[in-house]
Amino acid sequence: MTVYLNGSFVEKRAARISPDDRGFLFADGVYEVIRWYDGRLFEAEAHLDRLRDGLSKMRIACDAAGELPRIGEELLRRNGAPPDRMKLYVQITRGAARRTHAFPAPGTPPTVYAEVAPIDTSPEELEHGVDAITTADQRWARCDIKSTSLLANVLANQAALEAGACEAIMLKEGVVTEASHSSVFAVTDGEVRTAPLSNLILAGITRKVVLELCDELRLAVREFPLTESELRSADEVFLAGTSCEVMPVVRLDGRPIADGRPGAVTRRLGQAFTKRIGTG
Ligand SMILES: Cc1ncc(COP(=O)(O)O)c(C=O)c1O
Repeated sequence: MTVYLNGSFVEKRAARISPDDRGFLFADGVYEVIRWYDGRLFEAEAHLDRLRDGLSKMRIACDAAGELPRIGEELLRRNGAPPDRMKLYVQITRGAARRTHAFPAPGTPPTVYAEVAPIDTSPEELEHGVDAITTADQRWARCDIKSTSLLANVLANQAALEAGACEAIMLKEGVVTEASHSSVFAVTDGEVRTAPLSNLILAGITRKVVLELCDELRLAVREFPLTESELRSADEVFLAGTSCEVMPVVRLDGRPIADGRPGAVTRRLGQAFTKRIGTG
């Protein structure tokens, strides 16, 4: 497999990153995941803007974002990968320097890495929905940054898998923030609800698209904190993310949501999303 590292396309097994890299030492980096549909990177500009925003908030000087679509195309080509059901993973760290907490000397080049990988969400899950668990949100106070520092997300997702579920919905002080790697929506009495943007959640690109689709479908929608009890008594719950698209959640902590089947609003949004991906 060919990957991209610091300006070169190399075999993955030959790619070398320094043990002094701040991504390795401190998780001092950001990442982005963008998906291809029919050979087009979906919402590329929104993803690249979020990456630029994260770099700026982390004060990492790197202007590689604009080149990533071209790098992604080249990775697809070199790997002979189909231009669908594939994603571009990008990670940019503060570079390599002797270990000390403070930033390295100005001019230390960032590390820029990219690879392509297949999407593993199955059509069956999208059709029938998945199980989720709830868990405490133990993350830091800058979840708006798509940082590679994901330990709390990793532990939450592992707890979900060990409980036979596929995603962990996180609760902070009694309200839903988001899930370990997706945004969370609930539907009650026809109204679609999701957490408002803040430092406590990532500004999901799929979340943004779903809100646009709600507008197009004239669905009532509110970006307002959702309490744990509102989540548990919701008519429908779904996840939104680059990999999981619009994914119905049919059981929460082992108990069915409503009748335990994907709800009508979720289905409508899922269909609208499928139409949308055809148009970029
Ligand atoms: C914590 C978190 N929230 C939400 C999302 C969904 O974001 P997007 O729709 O941009 O993929 C992700 C995606 O990785 C995530 O890690």
